[in-house]
Amino acid sequence: MLQYFDPGKSGLNPDIDYGTPPSSSETLVSVSIDGTDISVPEGTSVLRAAALAGITIPKLCASDNLEAFGSCRMCAVEIEGRRGYPASCTTPVAEGMAVTTQNGKLAKLRRNIMELYISDHPLDCLTCPANGNCELQDVAGAVGLREVRYGFEGENHLDAEVDDSNPYFSFDPSKCIVCSRCVRACEEVQGTFALTIEGRGFESKVSAGQSEPFMDSECVSCGACVQACPTSTLMEKSVIDAGQPEHSVVTTCAYCGVGCSFKAEMKGDQLVRMVPYKGGDANHGHSCVKGRFAFGYATHKDRIREPMIRDSINEPWRTVSWDEAIGFAAKRLKDTQAKYGRESIGGITSSRCTNEETYLVQKLIRAAFGNNNTDTCARVCHSPTGFGLKTTIGESAGTQTFDSVMKADTIVVIGANPTDAHPVFGSQMRRRLRQGAKLIVIDPRRIDLLKTPHGSEGIHLPLRPGTNVAMVNALAHVIVTEGLEDKAFIESRCEPDQYRAWRDFIVEERNSPEAMEAVTGVPAELVRKAARIYGEARNGAIYYGLGVTEHSQGSTMVMGIANLAMATGNLGREGVGVNPLRGQNNVQGSCDMGSFPHELPGYQHVGDPNVRERFEGDWGVSIDPEPGLRIPNMFDAAIAGTFKAMYVQGEDIAQSDPNTQHVEAALTSLDCLIVQDIFLNETAKYAHVLLPGSTFLEKNGTFTNAERRINRVRKVMAPVAGMEDWEVTMALSNALGYPMHYQHPSEIMDEIARLTPTFTGVSYDKLDRLGSIQWPCNEEHPDGTPTMHVLDFPIGRGKFAVTEYVASEEKTNRKFPLLLTTGRILSQYNVGAQTRRTENSRWHEEDVLEIHPSDAELRGIHDGDWLGISSRVGRTVLRAKVSDRMLPGVVYTTFHHPGSGANVITTDSSDWATNCPEYKVTAVQVEKVTQPSEWQRHFQQFDQRQQELLTPAEAGTETSDATAIK
Ligand code: SF4
Ligand code: SF4
Ligand code: SF4
Ligand code: FES
Repeated sequence: MLQYFDPGKSGLNPDIDYGTPPSSSETLVSVSIDGTDISVPEGTSVLRAAALAGITIPKLCASDNLEAFGSCRMCAVEIEGRRGYPASCTTPVAEGMAVTTQNGKLAKLRRNIMELYISDHPLDCLTCPANGNCELQDVAGAVGLREVRYGFEGENHLDAEVDDSNPYFSFDPSKCIVCSRCVRACEEVQGTFALTIEGRGFESKVSAGQSEPFMDSECVSCGACVQACPTSTLMEKSVIDAGQPEHSVVTTCAYCGVGCSFKAEMKGDQLVRMVPYKGGDANHGHSCVKGRFAFGYATHKDRIREPMIRDSINEPWRTVSWDEAIGFAAKRLKDTQAKYGRESIGGITSSRCTNEETYLVQKLIRAAFGNNNTDTCARVCHSPTGFGLKTTIGESAGTQTFDSVMKADTIVVIGANPTDAHPVFGSQMRRRLRQGAKLIVIDPRRIDLLKTPHGSEGIHLPLRPGTNVAMVNALAHVIVTEGLEDKAFIESRCEPDQYRAWRDFIVEERNSPEAMEAVTGVPAELVRKAARIYGEARNGAIYYGLGVTEHSQGSTMVMGIANLAMATGNLGREGVGVNPLRGQNNVQGSCDMGSFPHELPGYQHVGDPNVRERFEGDWGVSIDPEPGLRIPNMFDAAIAGTFKAMYVQGEDIAQSDPNTQHVEAALTSLDCLIVQDIFLNETAKYAHVLLPGSTFLEKNGTFTNAERRINRVRKVMAPVAGMEDWEVTMALSNALGYPMHYQHPSEIMDEIARLTPTFTGVSYDKLDRLGSIQWPCNEEHPDGTPTMHVLDFPIGRGKFAVTEYVASEEKTNRKFPLLLTTGRILSQYNVGAQTRRTENSRWHEEDVLEIHPSDAELRGIHDGDWLGISSRVGRTVLRAKVSDRMLPGVVYTTFHHPGSGANVITTDSSDWATNCPEYKVTAVQVEKVTQPSEWQRHFQQFDQRQQELLTPAEAGTETSDATAIK
């Protein structure tokens, strides 16, 4: 007898739709389907049981990612001893049940139903974009429909108007069979509730919002409805244009830290569409607008297609061969070191590049440059996570899988906005909230999670920017003083001395919610309520983002979060944990791969002689035992004249780092700046060597997502300039005289595995076999580690840390009375280099300043007014958006457009332990203005000049869309 245990990696084929979701019951029920005996978990539908037995029952309204609905009746079966023809999708199996799926009566019934559908459906299969990949067509074939007796002249929907408002998909209601799969996908999978079925009977139709065009509705363009649609009613415009794809490759999204798996569906070497992959362990077949649709940048005319060099940034670029460009770069680096010393050069790795590429860049710096001047953009986002988690629980990574949230009873979200920045995980969180989990949000803004059904019952602690540590201490104070600690966990898992020291500190009255109310601005009773909910939860899970780390006390706050989890025993099992939501696709990986100046891959300290000995043995060089320069130190040293050359791979420091004027001064001080990127980004405008980068579609490698999951990136098209990024780094190393001879990124991963204790079991073969692996993956955990710290911590016992609240030096006063905080929005990604070159800009053409109505009124500001925003370091101009998402006294903007100059106003203030910039707290004044700031005028001129210096044939001469005031 066949036996199936769902769900999980049970050998199910992700390309098969099993009709209804799996049952998680552990009780097995035996049934007979068309004479085949099968045991399945109790609660499984007959439709799914049949599919598991390899028997196909026709279906239209069912899909295995949606709850069964039972509207089309196409899946009718006969069940021995039961009357009629029940729908197999809504009928659960029962012990001893005997099912017949095919006989003359069922065939006739199904043909009749199909006949009704087809009588109100255009018969244009040959010219329909879904032709050859249409479930309606397939089912019509399967049931043997040969004629439609009702004629097509009666009342029908064939003239219904097409809605083409969405840039990525079209809605043609004339093809709709009202199966409601789209409506349910929007509710159950995405959690947006943008679609409804309007009207009844013949009048019933799918409607976005209040019968609005999709673009005007609540739709966030995730594509779940498009994927669910069994007809061509909802269809990707790229497929309408290019036709059906003919082959596909499974790969990983290059945008955020969720790390969704996609099938890149191709026609030759043309990418036709990205379809979220059901076998993806991070996304289970869901996606957001970025990964699903915003891939057009890969073939954008602005791509840098050939290497270029120039002697000074005032000269035009010269297009040269790869050899000449690499030779030029290597000579400049060597000359610089000869003149200014070994420490005068360095490099920056990228969280957008693969693990293998990142590993090679830091290896190049340590082995070929001969110093440790390597850093990464994680410096400016999650470096406090590394420090804070390593200090307290011993490993600088999130403790859980995303799926773990489905077992959480209380979800605490701190300084993160998952529905915008980690949308697929945001949808999963919303699913759990709909199931009844409680929500606590600690954020100055009322994030969208609080507005979703059930989320609105959550507790919002709208604290003042910069007061996180005061808040976490107040929460911990309540937990300790009200007896909500998990004493058994603390005793068995944590260092007693450090716990006692922390406990003595936290119970002090000055840490109580009442004492902290004046600091955080949040009523003490609300803080107490939230602390009790988290402290009493069976499973409490904390998720946090850059609203925690990008502060002067970022590292302290991360430790405060770990303290909270240890104090309540919320570590080491599913449904709990401490989970940093990493921003970019490979932030986790770039940190793991040894990008920081003090750590070799696997967070192994460069000062440890045993660690160095292993790397030196493998690499054949001696490694400097002293940590190198961090990014801000590199900038300072460049301005001071001691740091003269830099290699930057896939990172736009001129736009993303704080205090833009300071960064620009540093970049202009360099004798040689080598930039490897896919576009002429803001940093490249200061460069002397421009090496074309390759997109994720053009290379092999791996990304590691926010749950430590290593996913394969697979090449689907040739790199536009002929070389993958890792090959370029290798060529530079060879030109510098340090030989590298990898034939394929898998060999780089083999080396990583050889040298990194948490990666010893990782290989491309295993990744292909398992789909993905969560590190640590080694002898102890050969298939990876979904949940960390189950029995103990890598440092043995957990270490509580005393987290004294220290107010940020960045304070408001009469001159700068408002606090500016920054964040992201759904449609754009980071500095916007990719998403601004797609239709995603339709949702967010420019960065705006959100301001509370009371602050706006005080200043006579209305929506759309131009606002001058001044801080202690600079001034910029943005358009106003009056919004009550903000607290009074707090203004907010995004930084997706370079000309907005958000970082012209952010300051050098940074985290005490890691130098992570305090992006989230800048004191500013805001006033109505009529012209751009001086920096913006300078920016526009410089941008225009640099676009002119770019060889016109190499990339678009379009002036960047960076201008804030056009
Ligand atoms: S694209 Fe996503 S959000 Fe928009 S209607 Fe479809 S499922 Fe809903
Ligand atoms: S649009 Fe597609 S999924 Fe939605 S009801 Fe119509 S046929 Fe079904
Ligand atoms: S959620 Fe993140 S990883 Fe997934 S599709 Fe969207 S951007 Fe890509
Ligand atoms: S598939 Fe079962 S009723 Fe539609």
